Amino acid sequence: MSSHPSREGGSDVGGGIDAALEELRAKFPARFAAATTEQALRDENAKILGKKGELTAILKELGKAPPEARRAINVVKQEVERGFEAALATLAKARRDADLNARPYDLTLPGRLLAPLGHKHPISIVREEIIDVFRDLGFAVHDGPEVELEENNFTKLGFPPDHPATDMQDSFWTTGGHLLRTHTSNVQVRAMSTHAPPMAFIAPGTVYRRDNDVTHSPMFHQVEGFLVDEGVTFAELKGVLTEFAQRLYGGDTPVRFRPSYFPFTEPSAEVDIGCVFCKQPDGRRTGCAMCKGSGWIEILGSGMIHPVVLENCGIDAEKYTGFAFGIGVERVAILRYRVPDIRMLFENDPRLLAQF
Ligand code: DAH
Repeated sequence: MSSHPSREGGSDVGGGIDAALEELRAKFPARFAAATTEQALRDENAKILGKKGELTAILKELGKAPPEARRAINVVKQEVERGFEAALATLAKARRDADLNARPYDLTLPGRLLAPLGHKHPISIVREEIIDVFRDLGFAVHDGPEVELEENNFTKLGFPPDHPATDMQDSFWTTGGHLLRTHTSNVQVRAMSTHAPPMAFIAPGTVYRRDNDVTHSPMFHQVEGFLVDEGVTFAELKGVLTEFAQRLYGGDTPVRFRPSYFPFTEPSAEVDIGCVFCKQPDGRRTGCAMCKGSGWIEILGSGMIHPVVLENCGIDAEKYTGFAFGIGVERVAILRYRVPDIRMLFENDPRLLAQF
């Protein structure tokens, strides 16, 4: 700050003005410093330099004042102006420092819940459970296409062209010999054609058939499984599938293998478990509508991979054997959650889905 104006300019400005100027000069730095917001600072500045401001009032007397006094007044005016600018800058810096030092976003906090979270679809829950069990048993997941060649869906699996067995799986045909796969067994053909034994794969996926009633949906899900190696027998099939059924439904679940027919397995077996609906505390099954009084419920199809299927995929059937199985995911879900109509699983009604 420059030297004292009253001395610089002589103290003959005229008593009132001189005293007022002195007081203003002495006090404006503290007044500016006391303003904690920009608005307060501007208000304070206006009280001094505004239209009706204290210094403005003095300036109005300027014409009458001697030259030294004018200089003194102007010096104070410039000091006030500089002081105001400096105080503005100080406030801005303080604001910026506060911004920089504050932590407005704590990235470690959990997010705010804007809408209620949903959960996995029952089909996904069950599919993941099935995959978990087979992963534990050493099977790897293999993917396959949903639009498939007739060859991979039927022919190489031992369905002769136009054979009545293909009627078991009425299909949606597209063009150029393609169809929506009717089962995940197409992945057997693809994996066995591209991998050399030993192999153990599961293939979860969506499949399609021209079916539509309380136990059939035109779109549904399967998990295929197959294992090929030297010396694989029906004993391995029974061991793996018993383990699977008991991990899913409990260690005391009875499992039975019932002769069946599939074009791509020989021998073939359907696997039943003791009915989960009429099981009594002592383990007996009394028979109910769900198991049609038998006490048994079918959970999957299986068998030893037919040698012709192995050969169709370029695997030496003299050297290698294998077993395969196909699980209906909806079937497992229905048994688990007691859903009366398979199609309800795909209507996406929250009143149903919220119950899983
Ligand atoms: N692909 C059969 C179906 O969709 C299920 C099946 C049965 C798969 C036996 C298999 C098997 O791999 O060995 O009905």
